[in-house]
Parts: sequence; structure tokens; C-alpha cells
Amino acid sequence: MTLTFPGETPTLRRAVPATTPWWRDAVVYQVYLRSFADADGDGIGDLAGLRARLDYIAALGVDAIWLNPCYPSPQADHGYDIADYLDIDPAYGDLSTFEALQKEARDRGLRVLMDLVPNHCSIAHPWFVAALAAGPGSPERAKFHFVGGRGWRGNRPPNNWRSVFGGPAWTRVTEPDGKPGQWYLHLFDSTQPDFNWQHPEVADYFDEVLRFWFDRGVEGFRIDVAHGMAKHPTLANWRHPRKYNAHMFNRPEVHAVHRRWRALVDSYRPARELTLVGEIWVPAVAELARYLRPDELRQAFFFDLLTQPWNAAKMRSAIQSGLDNIASTGATVTWVLSNHDVHRTVTRYGQEQPTKTPDPSALIEVTRNRGPVDVQLGTARAGAGILLLLALPGSVYLYQGEELGLPEVLDLPDEVRQDPIWRRSTGTKHGRDGCRVPLPWAAAEPTFGFSLNHAAGGAPAEPWLPQPDWFAGCAVDVQQERPDSMLALYRQALACRRELWAGDAELTWDDRLDRADLLVLTRGSARAVVAFGPDPVELPAELGEIVLASVPMTGRTLPGNAAAWLRS
Ligand code: BGC
Repeated sequence: MTLTFPGETPTLRRAVPATTPWWRDAVVYQVYLRSFADADGDGIGDLAGLRARLDYIAALGVDAIWLNPCYPSPQADHGYDIADYLDIDPAYGDLSTFEALQKEARDRGLRVLMDLVPNHCSIAHPWFVAALAAGPGSPERAKFHFVGGRGWRGNRPPNNWRSVFGGPAWTRVTEPDGKPGQWYLHLFDSTQPDFNWQHPEVADYFDEVLRFWFDRGVEGFRIDVAHGMAKHPTLANWRHPRKYNAHMFNRPEVHAVHRRWRALVDSYRPARELTLVGEIWVPAVAELARYLRPDELRQAFFFDLLTQPWNAAKMRSAIQSGLDNIASTGATVTWVLSNHDVHRTVTRYGQEQPTKTPDPSALIEVTRNRGPVDVQLGTARAGAGILLLLALPGSVYLYQGEELGLPEVLDLPDEVRQDPIWRRSTGTKHGRDGCRVPLPWAAAEPTFGFSLNHAAGGAPAEPWLPQPDWFAGCAVDVQQERPDSMLALYRQALACRRELWAGDAELTWDDRLDRADLLVLTRGSARAVVAFGPDPVELPAELGEIVLASVPMTGRTLPGNAAAWLRS
């Protein structure tokens, strides 16, 4: 990759501006803590490991980190099954480690966002334990969705809803008297019972959770399944059990929850500009925009780029529809190409690209295709893709390891797979473990430097998911030495973005090159050219001076499957 931008070295001690709505164009780095860095050598990433690697994140040049859930949890869905919302899981650290992390992050100009999981908790949450013990009809059960089954002796689930992870969305309990009894609702795994958001104590509880962490300095939350909290009032059957279930998701009543939280967030103004970013899977962008109305969320992931194939026309139309639909709300678009739930970008773009528009009920499925991967091609496209993403107006969330160009680990042995999707689909879907393999930091170290404690003499435990040998070639220390590495590209692009693409300057498409396999976009005096096909393109001088390209360029010839940034 050519790094022609003279660039500034990102400073490690930038001041955090106090009042600007920083999140509008922020770049946020997603830390899947379990797989980031392990300080105590037990094979599981932790907060101390993250603290030890904060300079790495600061040097990338991002504005904030989002931590996947790190609360006490039985880890049935790796933290998305929470037993206590007001503490840190001992495997990751404790509240004082968390405080130290926040301070050290702040010193480096990094804000810290957490993950809020309001749709469901863990079966180990004290409310659920109490509900099981208290029996049918009790006030304890009213905080969840406990109902009797259908059919003879209630042995069939109360309705036809399906769990997102496979199988029915209901599990039957054994009552305190030892007999089979009621069923409880879980949109995900059976270890993740759904809260009943019609119960006033549930809403009060989450107000307390938000305040608890905001008062400890957290600057925002990513909200898990932010379209899920409200259910159809009578839990009626859904007419297409295997299609997008509008009785479970995206109910009109869910917006009241977001309005309530927005008021809570705004109560911290003007001293603090906190953000809430929703994880919302809806069939249409216009629906997404409804969550961004001025009294609701400040941000919501725009997943439509993530579900597009590597194709100029489809990307352009998705970008334009994001801008058109979301601009009217006053919010900016929150762009993402990757996260802990989908296959890594290099792998997606190195596979045969789907040509059919995905069914709205299976959007996330298209991001987890299997099949042969051309890693070199996928890597070239992923490099071009990040230059496209970072050129867009709005904020960008980056998933850890993408900056290393890690491909998905598709061939994990079945016996090590931990994702509940694998179990609930009875081994028909591999799930998400392959993008969660612990990061390689140092090619020649045991565990590729993921576990740090061997330096103190101890032998680190095996990482919680095995790392393939080829991770060595992607390790941070290898890439740091190579000016043409993906890591070098990310660092240069993030430094350059501050200067070239900052602010809300409007995007216009430039069609003067008149080629269906190219996208050329302009914002202010900056321009991005992305070649989606294999053919090179000669960049005319009138497009401006080339400041950065995703691959080495000879003169003004941009190779295929590559991108360049220019300025006039
Ligand atoms: C998270 C997943 C999680 C699920 C249930 C999501 O959409 O991103 O990782 O398994 O919610 O909490």
C-alpha cells in the first residue's frame, strides 16, 4: 500500500473536548474483551490486558472504544447473558480495574462506551432465580414472560415464535413442586430470558443501570437488540414463523423506551454529551430512521453496507439510502463493515459475491456464508472498503482485528465451538466463533502474545479459542514493520481522515469517469475513488493530488479492487 500522505503521528495524549457532540463523526474501536489481550494468563482476555494495550488503540487514531459486555455472566453467550448489571465479571477484573482503565483511556483521548443488554438477562440473574422459585402467578414472574403452554397439559410452546439462534423461543420450566410448568420467552438462547418491559420495575432498573455507569464516567452505550424490548401485547402467533417476526421486533411500543433513555441522557447536558447507539435489525432504512427521531437514540448502526456484496452500484445505492433516510432526523449515519456477529470482511469479500438481494429476515445470514476464500482478493477489497467507509460523513465503528486484515477462522474444530448458535442449530450453522479468535500480537511468542503473563515466567493457558498457525503472519509486530500492511493503512487512513474528511461536508457522487465498476465521491475538497472490479483506472490530474491509496500505485494508475483518496 502506498502511504503518500505525510500524515501526523497520532498523539497519544489528545485532550478530550468537553462539549462538542463528539459522537457525530467519531471513529469507535470495538473491543471484544475476551479476545483482545489476556494479562493474567488464563487464556481469556481481560481489562488489565486492555489497559496494557491502550497505547496500541490510541496510536490507531480512534476516538473511543466500545467494550462488549464485561459484567458478571455465566458466559453462555459470552457476556450477553448478564447476571449482575452493576459490576464487572471477575474473569475480566473488577470495578477498580474498570475505573483505572477509564482514567488511562481518557489520558489518551479515548472515550469508553459499554454495552447495554436490556432485552434479556441471564438465568443466573437474581430476578430470574427468584421468579423460578416463586412459581406461577407470582409478582417475581411478572418481570419476565412466563405463560402456560398450549395443547394437552400445556406441553407445547405458547406460540410459534422462533429463537434467533434456532429452535423455539420458549423453554418450559420445572415448577418448585417438581412438575413441568410454565414456559418463559427467550428471543435468543434459553439461558437468556426476556424481560417484560411492561413491568414498571424493569424500566426503573435500567434507569439505575444507566446512571450507575454514566456516573462512573462511561460516555455512552451500545444498545443490544434495541428493537426487541416490546413484544406483541397478546403474544399472538406470527403468521410466518421463519420470517422477520414483527411481533417480537420493532414494535411501535419500543420507541417509548428510547424516549425515556434519551431524556435520561439529556439530563447530563450540557456538561456531558453522552451517546446511545442502537443495534437495530429492521427490514427497511426508513424504519431505522424512526429510532433516530430527535427525542430518541443519537446513533444506530447502519447495517446495510455490511450486507451488500462488493459491488459499486449496490454500495452506492445503500450509502445514498442511508444518507437520505437518516439525514432527515438530524442524526449522522453510523457506518459499519464488521462486528463480533458476522464473518470478517477479508473473508466476506474474498468469497464469491452473492448476486441476489437478501431476504430481510435473513440479512445477517448473508454475512456468514461459507465456501472458498481468495484471501489476497479479500484483503485488497477490505483495504479499499475501509477507505470508502472512512470517507463517508458520520461515525464509523471498527471491530478489533479488522485493522490486521484478519480473515475469519472458518475451520475451527467442532469440539471447540462455543457459540450457542452452533448448539441450537444442532450443528447446521457454525455461528460466530471464527471472528472471535484471540488477537495475534507477536508472531514468535506463545499464544502470539495474546496472553501476557509468560513474560513473568508463567506458561500461559491455551487461548479460549485456538489460534491457527497462520495468525503469525498477521501479528501486530509483523505488520508494524511493514509500510504496506493493513495496520499501516488503518493508521494512515485514520490520521488522514481527521484532516481530509472531518465534519459533516455533504457527499456528492462524481460520474465523470463513467464506469459502472467505480465509485467516485466528493466531500469538500476531498475525493475518494473506489475500483470494485479487477480493471485498473487512470486517475486524471483534475481529480486532485493523491494522498493515500490502499495498494501501491504506479503514477496515477489505481489497480482494480483498490481505493485512493485525493484532494484538490
Ligand atoms: C449481539 C450478539 C448477541 C445477541 C443476544 C446481539 O445482537 O450482538 O452477540 O448474541 O444480541 O444478546
